[in-house]
Amino acid sequence: MPETMTALFGGTGPDWTARRVSVPEPGPGQIVVRARATALNNADAAMLADADPTAGGTGHEYQAGYEFAGEVTAVGEGVDTPAVGERVMGTTPGSFAEYVLADHRHVLPVPDELGYEEACALPTGLLTEHGALMVAGFRAGQSVLITGATSSIGLIGVQIAKALGAGQVVATTRSAAKRDLLIRAGADTVVVTGEQDLTQAVLGATEGEGVDVALDHVGGPTFAACLPATRTDGAVVNIGRLDRAASTVDLDALACRHLRVAGVSFGFTRPAELGHVIATAGKHLLEAVADERVRPLIDTTLSFDTADKAAERLRSHQAHGKIVLTVL
Ligand SMILES: NC(=O)c1ccc[n+]([C@@H]2O[C@H](COP(=O)([O-])OP(=O)(O)OC[C@H]3O[C@@H](n4cnc5c(N)ncnc54)[C@H](OP(=O)(O)O)[C@@H]3O)[C@@H](O)[C@H]2O)c1
Repeated sequence: MPETMTALFGGTGPDWTARRVSVPEPGPGQIVVRARATALNNADAAMLADADPTAGGTGHEYQAGYEFAGEVTAVGEGVDTPAVGERVMGTTPGSFAEYVLADHRHVLPVPDELGYEEACALPTGLLTEHGALMVAGFRAGQSVLITGATSSIGLIGVQIAKALGAGQVVATTRSAAKRDLLIRAGADTVVVTGEQDLTQAVLGATEGEGVDVALDHVGGPTFAACLPATRTDGAVVNIGRLDRAASTVDLDALACRHLRVAGVSFGFTRPAELGHVIATAGKHLLEAVADERVRPLIDTTLSFDTADKAAERLRSHQAHGKIVLTVL
């Protein structure tokens, strides 16, 4: 094991800065993983911008990144699994590094059929979409609405819902050109929100009843439109705010339909709880990952030393799927 490694830091300017730092040592309950690939998330762009001292940001320096895949090289006290040498994919702050320090509960084994470039792009989508379905109390046979479904994690959500036996998946996009993408991911009905009224289209697709579960990635008026599109005793879970965070809702729709409304943000979840969310997602989904029912859509793969291009692509909002950095 080398003594130093390269890691990417934010808080120095508009882009990440590569630095030589010490290879981490695992503490109790921790593991160190030799990262082979790491994937970008929307939150990476937001954090870079917030910390950029050249544009009025905080100047707070931090090791960037959230998700990764690679081989375990060291385990700390009290860690039974994973073992040294095991291929894992997981989530932790500071994943843009050659050696990643993580909580052993925050990784899953990588199925043999899956390469690192795809594996690193799965953990956020798997844990978030599966976690949200569990919060909703989803059961096989139920219908699911996924708004902003062409987003990286939304596409995973469509696949997960089908893999877990959803009776019907209704998926939304603003663009008719992305209809086929959603059908290929497994959506039964696609609603093009630029052309159709979301609530009416969902009611039309569900015999006027609405869906059992709505997973909302968009927020704003879209979140509000999910309430009357959800059936009595159903659940609406907000995951993302691609449009905006504020929403004016019709409380009659909420109360008269006896809806349960929740929000999830797994980046702000206690470590033990996150471990449970990840373990449950693994138990229910690793088989579906292995047999390709659940796979991430990769937009671009770049090498670790061209991370600036990856940040540029993320900020462009033109990516269809995940942006991956390979770590050689
Ligand atoms: N709760 C959590 O723990 C958690 C974890 C990860 C991510 N998130 C959140 O989940 C959301 C999706 O993340 P992601 O990284 O998968 O997104 P992404 O891949 O960047 O999403 C891109 C897609 O979002 C849609 N979109 C963009 N702006 C929109 C708008 N104003 N209104 C409606 N749709 C819009 C577009 O779809 P169309 O052009 O097809 O409409 C676009 O293709 C983000 O808000 C992210 O912050 C939450």
